Amino acid sequence: MDARTEAKRAAAEKAAEYVHDGMIVGLGTGSTAYWVIQKLGERMKNGLKIKAVATSNQSELLAKELEIPFVPLSEIGEIDLTIDGADEVDDEWNLIKGGGGALLREKIIATASKELIIIADESKVVKKLGQFPLPVEIVQFGYELTLCKLASYGCITHLRMQEEERFITDNGNYIVDCAFGQIERASDLHAALNMIPGVVENGLFINLATKVIIGANDGSIKELDR
Ligand code: A5P
Repeated sequence: MDARTEAKRAAAEKAAEYVHDGMIVGLGTGSTAYWVIQKLGERMKNGLKIKAVATSNQSELLAKELEIPFVPLSEIGEIDLTIDGADEVDDEWNLIKGGGGALLREKIIATASKELIIIADESKVVKKLGQFPLPVEIVQFGYELTLCKLASYGCITHLRMQEEERFITDNGNYIVDCAFGQIERASDLHAALNMIPGVVENGLFINLATKVIIGANDGSIKELDR
């Protein structure tokens, strides 16, 4: 396993320590959240009792293979703890997410969670968000027009592809990756983008994380609390 993967795994396994019996746990998506799901599967074999909700079909499938039980969203009020990855984390713990295309479900689950632990390797930590192109989920209808509106906010848009086909999210929508370079006022941009007809949600997660755990390539872990 390379150093970066080890760093992701270390952060993920630290975060999994915050999961306790009886919790409803939100399972994130991506190569870092993967290790949380693996660890929880292992802990459940040793007696941990939790129920889960997932932020993507991919994570749900993996968790089900590990026999993690699920609870329907209709049966819960709040989620106790969600653990998820990020594409960028800034000084104020604002995030860019959606590199894996799961940003809409991730935001619904994050917003319904009492605690959101973000796990990442150190390459994700930035001074200002925006080097990573901001993923925006849009409906298919009139997508060319929505792309133009998005570009008018000062970014270069790229409709996400998967091999030769347009990438389709778990919700049947497209993803546009918006290269801003540097995002000055993330909170304002977040609100403005979501006002564009055709935009379902964008990958800026403002003020949602309650803890951040960063894994370094030298094997150390940094835990940041509010
Ligand atoms: C999924 O849509 C994303 O929000 C992921 O959480 C994010 O891209 C981080 O993924 P990795 O852990 O694979 O880098």
